[in-house]
This record gives sequence, C-alpha cells and structure tokens, in this order.
Amino acid sequence: MKLKPLFAAALLAASAAWAQEPIVIKFSHVTTADTPKGKGAQKFKELAEAATQGRVKVDVYPNSQLYKDKEELEALQMGAVQMLAPSLSKFGPLGVKEFEVYDIPYILPSKAALRRVNEGPVGKALLKKLETKGIVGLAYWDNGFKEMTSNKPIAQPADFRGQKMRIQSSKVLDAQMRALGANPQVLAFSEVYQGMQTGVVDGSENTPSNIYTQKMHEVQKYMTVSDHGYIGYAVIANKRFWDALPPDIRTALDGAMREATRYANTIAQQENDAALEGIKKAGKTQVRELSPQEKAAWRKALLPVQATVAPRVGKPLIDAFNREAA
Ligand code: LMR
Repeated sequence: MKLKPLFAAALLAASAAWAQEPIVIKFSHVTTADTPKGKGAQKFKELAEAATQGRVKVDVYPNSQLYKDKEELEALQMGAVQMLAPSLSKFGPLGVKEFEVYDIPYILPSKAALRRVNEGPVGKALLKKLETKGIVGLAYWDNGFKEMTSNKPIAQPADFRGQKMRIQSSKVLDAQMRALGANPQVLAFSEVYQGMQTGVVDGSENTPSNIYTQKMHEVQKYMTVSDHGYIGYAVIANKRFWDALPPDIRTALDGAMREATRYANTIAQQENDAALEGIKKAGKTQVRELSPQEKAAWRKALLPVQATVAPRVGKPLIDAFNREAA
C-alpha cells in the first residue's frame, strides 16, 4: 500500500523531530552550586552541551533538591537520574565498601599522594568495581581535607569523649569516631545543619567548603583545623544508559569529563581556602589550628583505626594504598 504524500511527509517530519530530541542527563548531587562539586557539575554541563552541539542536555540538580545521600544512589541504579558524584565515603551501603580506604585517618599525606592513588592501579580498580552494581565510574573529583567542628571545644583526642558526631555512612568513619571516644551518628548531608541546630549531634567533620556553604559554622561554636581526612567524589553514571549512548556522543562526553575533572580539581583547594576565610570572618565559630604536639596526639589516637578496619576494607588494599600514597 502506498502512503498518501501528506501522511508520508508528516511521518518524516515527526521522526526528524524525534531524532533531534536531545539526550537528557539528570545530574543530581547534594552540595550547593557554589562548591567544588557544584562548579564541576556546571562545567561538565557546559562542556558536554557544547561538545555535542546540543544533542545532549545536562540538567544539574544541586543541594539534595532531588535526592538525599542514600536515595540518590538508588535513583541512579533505577535510572531515575543518569549521573551523580557521591563522596567516596558513601559507597559502603551499596556493597562497595573498599572505597572506605580513603576514609582511614591520615592515610593521605597530600594532594600529590591523592593523585597518585586515584590515577594508579588502586584508583582504577575501585572505579571498575562499581560495574557489578550497574554503575560506571567516570572520574575522581576533589573536595578537600576535613576539619572537626563542634559546640564543645576539641583540641585533644580526649575532648571527643562522649560527643555525638555526625558522620557519612562509612564504617571507617564510625571506627575513627569511636577511636576518639565519640559517638558517631550517620546523618544525610542535607540533615546536618538541622541536626547541629537542634542538638541531635554536637559536631561533625567536613571540608571548609561544605561547612561554609551549608552554614554549619552558624550553628557550631568551635572548629579545629585538623586535616585528618579527605572528602572526594567518584563521578558516576548509570551503566546501561552510558553503554547505550551513540559512540560519538560517548567520546564527546568522555572528553568533556576529562576537562571538567581538570577544572574541578584545580578550583577545589581555592574554594576550600576561601571558605575557611569566610568562616573566620563570619566570627561565629572559634577556629583553631592544631599545634604539632596536638597533631601528633591525634595521629597516635587514630593510628589503631587501620587495624580495626582491615577486615572490612582489606589489608592488601590498605597496604597497596599506603604504598602508592607514600
Ligand atoms: C557529606 O555528606 O558530608 C559530604 O559527602 C557531602 C558532599 O557531597 O561533599
């Protein structure tokens, strides 16, 4: 049967319109837009949309607007969103507990060590592990080193005794707080400010950027610059979605991701330095640096954590990490 010319033309126009419909990537995350992660996501959007000449549209949803910590990982696996950048401390509940090696206190002596680990065999193998969960690991993005905050002073390890400290959902962070004599409590990032305000927790650990942009410094009297741990992200995508992308699009997105990663990792330190200044200027939190003696006492108190968490994280992994970080 021959199609009537008008009908055939309409069909053609409809399929052309469909072919031009952009591929939409929903990129959800929990920090504000003016953080290392927020700015990295925005940069990826701009680069991805330019590189694909509009065939891909990236919609970024910051500040837990769509999902909180745990929900966002479930949403990614179900395909309700296509991209996320959770902190490395949040993969345990998904069954990839090895990422928690990054949470071992003082395991990372510097950003240079971090780069070596992320770009070396340990970093690559960890991203690969996500594939069994239907997730593809695209890159590592920095936030920065963590400081302690509380409504009670914290200088010596003994000061932590009995304090209720919010942690991310990592068993290594749980062990860390217990080694200090504190009571760890998992709260989603979006719930921390209120938890501090209402006294559900006394304090927490986070990067200056996260503390400042969530206004935690307005509800915390003390901050100790301890740099005892690190927050960074795995930028991840739903594997089924990623694998089904037309190859030229995927290549363009890989390029955009490489460039966005360079950008995010360049600005992260500046963002944290500026945030620390902002916290000091706001004058609501008393900020103190650890003296070398105090730092030595913290290291000593936290050293046993490596052995405590070895059965969970894996001794060979901890050893490999230490070797690459050294
Ligand atoms: C936190 O929960 O404290 C952080 O992981 C938030 C983030 O994404 O930086």
